[in-house]
Amino acid sequence: MSSFQIIVGSMLGGSEYVAEACEETLIAMGHEVTLHFQPEFEQILSENQTWLICTSTHGAGDFPDNIQSFVTDLENSNKDLSSLKFFTIGIGDSSYDTFCYAAKNLNKLLITKGCVEIIPLKTLDMSADIDPEERSQAWLNKNNDLL
Ligand SMILES: Cc1cc2nc3c(=O)[nH]c(=O)nc-3n(C[C@H](O)[C@H](O)[C@H](O)COP(=O)(O)O)c2cc1C
Repeated sequence: MSSFQIIVGSMLGGSEYVAEACEETLIAMGHEVTLHFQPEFEQILSENQTWLICTSTHGAGDFPDNIQSFVTDLENSNKDLSSLKFFTIGIGDSSYDTFCYAAKNLNKLLITKGCVEIIPLKTLDMSADIDPEERSQAWLNKNNDLL
């Protein structure tokens, strides 16, 4: 059993539903899960934790408003994050050149901070006719052995 912190970046609420679907699947696998809809970097456990970043992209490749301060605090932090595992789900629209840039940039930032990426980044393209909750749950189940 692992302890997961799900960090949600969302403007319109879609990524929140994806995050809740992931929470449900991780709990069914027997893990402990805490959801953060208004993430504050200093408040989120990082030692021996797994972070799931679940974020959309807005503007022209920008972070959703609710995670901008989280990202800035992470950038400026000197905390030892070497015991922190993570993986990322990006929700976006491939008609933008900046497809899932928020997820991709946050994923890169966590790597530069010394965190351990346990599953390669997953993108969900909302321009395709998909059910993002179902897709993310199926993807977690497929990667169960890596969690
Ligand atoms: C104003 C606006 C700008 C957007 N910019 C991007 C973008 O740069 N890259 C991308 O992949 N998706 C972009 N999107 C698509 C959103 O990421 C997508 O609709 C997503 O499902 C929204 O998730 P949310 O409800 O959690 O905010 C944009 C959507 C809007 C409305």
